Amino acid sequence: MGALNAQPTDDGSGHEHCVFQQIAAGLRTQGWCVVPDALPPLLAAELFEQVRTASSGEFLLAGVGRSRDHVHNRFVRRDRIRWIDGRAEAEQQWLAWCGRLQVYLNRQLFLGLFSFESHFAHYRPGDFYKKHVDAFRSVEPDRDSRRVLSLLTYLNPGWQLSDGGELVIYDVEGTASLQKVMPAYGTVVVFLSTEVPHEVLPAARDRYSIAGWFRVNGSVADRPDPPR
Ligand code: OGA
Ligand code: MN
Repeated sequence: MGALNAQPTDDGSGHEHCVFQQIAAGLRTQGWCVVPDALPPLLAAELFEQVRTASSGEFLLAGVGRSRDHVHNRFVRRDRIRWIDGRAEAEQQWLAWCGRLQVYLNRQLFLGLFSFESHFAHYRPGDFYKKHVDAFRSVEPDRDSRRVLSLLTYLNPGWQLSDGGELVIYDVEGTASLQKVMPAYGTVVVFLSTEVPHEVLPAARDRYSIAGWFRVNGSVADRPDPPR
């Protein structure tokens, strides 16, 4: 990412900058934050269209665990995912938005974020993802433990409280629930991947989200560490 797109660029209303500021402030003070209506409406609409019209064959059963012992465990999670590779214009816009957030957070919080990966997730009625953290602190970080920040956004127009499907955010011990987040259209959630246990409760209707991770560099010698 060059210096040219280092400044947040948006529709000129300052909305993007304001959202990025809220994210940085939340991370600084408590390690997580929830920002309603954060995703630009046009981008949200295009991403929703993308996920709504994707054939179910494009979505694969999601796995759990670190790269080496990646398994499918239907008692842990039941969502189906499709990695975002920038094949559609909407995906490129999404990756660009996340790229600007990465630059902003590196400047504000000195996180040294290096790459980003994300996938669409589809939870059918009744699907869940049990309490987990997205990365483990370790001395010799493997691929997943280089995840520093987790980013979630929701693509569910007209979501009601009675639809369920909340994201539950826990304290660092994983005992006390701190907040329940409705997967409402355009809400963005960002948190430190190793510090914030979280869970997806079953929903009464189809639930669409994007989950993404900013990672630090895992280069060995001069061999770069490309995104997935
Ligand atoms: C994940 C995750 C939460 C959500 O994919 O790791 O926690 O609300 N997703 O989709
Ligand atoms: Mn997670």
